[in-house]
Amino acid sequence: MRIEINSVNKSFAGKTLEISGWVDALRDHGGVVFADLRNRSGKIQIVFDVTKKGADFAKNVSMLRVEFVIKVKGKVLERPKDSVNKKLATGEVELWVEEFEVLNTCEPLPFYPGEKVSEEVRLKYRFLDLRGAGMLKNLVSMDRIMKITRDYFSGCGFIEVVTPILTKSTPEGARDYLVPSRMQRGAFFALPQSPQLFKQILMAAGLEKYYQIAKCFRDEDLRADRQPEFLQIDMEMSFTARDEIMETSRALVEKIFEEFGIKLPAVVSLKYDESMKKFGSDKPDLRVEISTLEDITEVFRDSPFNVFRSEVQAGNKIVAFFAAREFSRGELDDLTLDAKALGAGGLVWIKKDGDDLKSPVLKLFGEKEINKIKELFNFASGMIFASTSKKAFEMMGALRMSIAKNFKLMKDGFYPVWVVDAPLFIKNEEGGLESVHHPFTAPVGDIFSENPLKMESLSYDFVINGEELGGGSVRIHQAEVQKKIFEILGIPEDEYNEKFGFLLKALSYGCPPHGGFAFGLERLAVKILGLDSIRDVIAFPKTQNAECPLSSAPAAVSPAQLRDLGIKIVGVRS
Ligand code: AMO
Repeated sequence: MRIEINSVNKSFAGKTLEISGWVDALRDHGGVVFADLRNRSGKIQIVFDVTKKGADFAKNVSMLRVEFVIKVKGKVLERPKDSVNKKLATGEVELWVEEFEVLNTCEPLPFYPGEKVSEEVRLKYRFLDLRGAGMLKNLVSMDRIMKITRDYFSGCGFIEVVTPILTKSTPEGARDYLVPSRMQRGAFFALPQSPQLFKQILMAAGLEKYYQIAKCFRDEDLRADRQPEFLQIDMEMSFTARDEIMETSRALVEKIFEEFGIKLPAVVSLKYDESMKKFGSDKPDLRVEISTLEDITEVFRDSPFNVFRSEVQAGNKIVAFFAAREFSRGELDDLTLDAKALGAGGLVWIKKDGDDLKSPVLKLFGEKEINKIKELFNFASGMIFASTSKKAFEMMGALRMSIAKNFKLMKDGFYPVWVVDAPLFIKNEEGGLESVHHPFTAPVGDIFSENPLKMESLSYDFVINGEELGGGSVRIHQAEVQKKIFEILGIPEDEYNEKFGFLLKALSYGCPPHGGFAFGLERLAVKILGLDSIRDVIAFPKTQNAECPLSSAPAAVSPAQLRDLGIKIVGVRS
């Protein structure tokens, strides 16, 4: 029977065990060689008494190296009291080796499992990196999250359905990864950016409650929280309202956190507009201990302070926030540079000085503005920062976050928020309209009669500590509404029929009202485990350049393969 190493304790004393694993550390104490034997189930000290076991035994022990794979047979003995290792679960015992076999050797190591080396090297030798206790724990945690998820959904009557990987493009805002078809030269599959269209079609098919732990692929600029392939906890429900979907998703995330010993506070709900105005972002971070943003544009409409007045007259906004901390001259100089880098025009600071205010620009303010500011920011000490820009809320939101991070003005803990009712569309730089979520999101109101730019959507994003962990919406379930949305987005009829004809058909044949949600599984795991990058919960992640250092993918293919596919390469990467 396989022995779980970490279960070996004093009660095993006197027993003979056979265990296989890696040599973790070797210490030659002259005559007695100590090592740790490690496998997934733990670590135990093993002892080779080379003086008593004959020359062959001694020679074989002398050839052992770290990370050799060995099978040992020996007796468990209690350690003397003064040599108990409290850091090991097996620290009260050790295994005195009677015989052992080397199952495999190991080349000189580029690094020890768990050692901190550059990520490029860790990814190249990922098998060594994953052998380290930390990485192993992360993979075990991922497995646990997936199990909790499956148990939860199954308990709520959902069924897991696998959707295709070789499919057609789904617009989720990124570039597609394309796969050329050999059978139909010149045609391409797209890897799914999400199972969005298929899960809606499953609703048309009468599944009612679908979920899937789904692989998604997006060709986009990579960051710590973005990978080209990642997992979504994806779900969809029919005959439902937004509240039920949000409730089902919230209860799952709460359950997952709880299983990891974290009790989430109640989820705050914020309208998208409110979030943009108070936080300058649709991903509010409620840990920040700085006032939310305040629109003080009107205070300066007729101000003698020329700089602000002309900004107001040019249609720009003046936005301010208050931090309950005083900043030194040097800090203020740095902050002004930060603000400039973020695109916020001339940062102005104001602080309390007894009953008065103090600021380099105060002498340019009129009495009215000074009184109004005192009234708006009833502050005892600390500073107000005000700035102007076309995108004043976003800029000041970013500055507020950077001050909070740099000066540690953040609470501990997790602060979940629902950001709801995003606009249906925004204007893009070319002046056309784009969906804020995806084009299958249901509008609030009548799309045939209302101004699309003023319409909200039945959407909801789940944000914790400034990071979006998931998003979803009630969907459009009527073909005519869906077609109208495509038209507003400027997609010609022949194009939407070619791209989304299969969805439109499904909507036309008795599709029930439905909606759904998807969490980023790795993002969720990283939050729970307190890690910095989703690469640490993915067994074989890609680098910033979307490459896999372990397998050297992507790689060139043979001329014969290209010929089969009818593909000619016209330029190669440098
Ligand atoms: P969305 O595009 O918001 O919605 O994605 C849902 C969640 O997936 C995670 N995510 C990512 N994680 C890692 N790497 C990436 N490149 C990446 N991109 C997204 C995020 C995000 O919140 N079909 C809709 C969901 C729906 O409407 O039901 C969708 O995919 O945590």
